[in-house]
Amino acid sequence: MRWVALCCLFSGLVAYLAATAQADNAATAADSYKKAAEADVKFLQTRLAELAQKQAAGENLLQGHIKPALGVALLLAAYGQAMGDNTLRGEALKIIDAIQAKKFADANTLAKNLAVKPGQPGKLDALPKPLPPDAMLEAVMNPYRLTKVGGLNIEKDIRDMIKGNNPLKIEPAAVEVLAVRTAVLSAYASHYPNPEAQKTPADKKQWEKWSLEAMELSQQLAAEATKGSTADTMKMKKLLTEINNTCNHCHEKYRD
Ligand code: HEC
Repeated sequence: MRWVALCCLFSGLVAYLAATAQADNAATAADSYKKAAEADVKFLQTRLAELAQKQAAGENLLQGHIKPALGVALLLAAYGQAMGDNTLRGEALKIIDAIQAKKFADANTLAKNLAVKPGQPGKLDALPKPLPPDAMLEAVMNPYRLTKVGGLNIEKDIRDMIKGNNPLKIEPAAVEVLAVRTAVLSAYASHYPNPEAQKTPADKKQWEKWSLEAMELSQQLAAEATKGSTADTMKMKKLLTEINNTCNHCHEKYRD
């Protein structure tokens, strides 16, 4: 009898610990989304102010500046969904429509009014699809580009943090935001195989597998980075290396 009781107590404890761990994860994730959302609102406000100003002055607008704005608005819509901030989600989608209609003054006004107000956390599935599929993939990959060509520098930051010679310091706060962005971009990407990856069902599966791998590794990275000064640098470096490998596998097979 005592053994039975002990066994049940033990399994009850395991269940309790698992539930707590999950609750903790959900709580930190919402906070990580909020940090990424605040950073991305700033990026979008700055970018759209520039584009509105250039358009008003009759200057040429670069696709390299427009597409990352679309990608970041897609990120904000997803964060809004994940944080239970439906206003953020809705306003981000309006911004995407205004950009598509080349109404940059309107997009700028909408961006200025963006605010981040987390509510009851929701889910990342059923992501919005405001653009045609090929435009979705481009918009999703564009924030990875270098800052100097209009992106968020994500790809270079990842590579600089894992390189052997004089690497970029792995700062948990910066890595947390990077990881949230990469997780959400990868979740979007999983739905948009390019023509090369649509040739056979196996290719579609492979595309999805790499995207979801990048998403999961990024979620693990965000969870580690959330620990701040106690985050494990070697673990973050390993995850960054694995994420980079996933990007490279997909590019080598389907992009290049
Ligand atoms: C599942 C496949 C896949 C994964 C995973 C993937 N990419 Fe891509 N990426 C592509 C494809 C395909 C393109 C070309 C898109 C196009 O035709 O516009 C691309 C384009 C890009 C571009 C160029 C964008 C432009 O228009 O100049 C960058 C930068 C990029 N990816 C970075 C990354 C990074 C960083 C990761 C990992 C964190 C990553 N990608 C993960 C498939 C993938």
